[in-house]
Amino acid sequence: MLYLVDTADISRIKRVYDLYPIAGVTTNPTLLAKERADFWETLHSIKKIIGGEAMLHVQAVGTAAAEIVAEAEHLAAKIGGSLYVKIPVTAEGIKAIKLLKNRGIKTTATAVFTPQQALLAAVAGADFVAPYINRLDNICSDGVRVSGEIVRLFEVHGIPARVLAASFKNIEQVHQASLAGCHAVTVSPEIIDMLVQHPLTDASVAQFIRDWEGFYGTGKLTTDV
Ligand code: E4P
Repeated sequence: MLYLVDTADISRIKRVYDLYPIAGVTTNPTLLAKERADFWETLHSIKKIIGGEAMLHVQAVGTAAAEIVAEAEHLAAKIGGSLYVKIPVTAEGIKAIKLLKNRGIKTTATAVFTPQQALLAAVAGADFVAPYINRLDNICSDGVRVSGEIVRLFEVHGIPARVLAASFKNIEQVHQASLAGCHAVTVSPEIIDMLVQHPLTDASVAQFIRDWEGFYGTGKLTTDV
């Protein structure tokens, strides 16, 4: 199971990287534009935090396959490392995925709303496919069901592409996507924090500290006694 963080906010990436086992960062044009910062500076700052090994997913914005391929090659040359070019699953996007597979550039098929979009993208050579769980739930569909069907399709057909579930608004969606066998989830820093928070954990910790300090002394650690 891989956890990625879905943001282009440098300070938040720093914080979650320090705390949690994060396998990489996903961005999209909306998240990057929200930062109101230089595109390349932002990507280089992210790379500096996550290092060469961790995945960085960056979306192409062209709509024609030739534009997407040119963007992907430019991104690969400037970013290198473990770059995944996110490409929406339009007809031109599928063509670009196919071309990039032959050129050895890794891709993530994004804006996936149906299992057949995911299957086609994976057969074209996508390394990851990203179904949008919450956006599906918002239209009275079922993001987890769609994601689970994609996982099953890949198993049935022996397809090596992995499912990177995206677009989460709550922990139950993350939980169900994990149970459905999604190989990775990309979540906001807020959702990552929510994954670990529980009032009973806080209460238990507070009680342990009270009991410990009652006998061993205030502020004492196991290294001090
Ligand atoms: C994933 O590829 C997208 O960047 C993202 O997860 C979409 O999430 P949203 O629906 O919260 O905007």
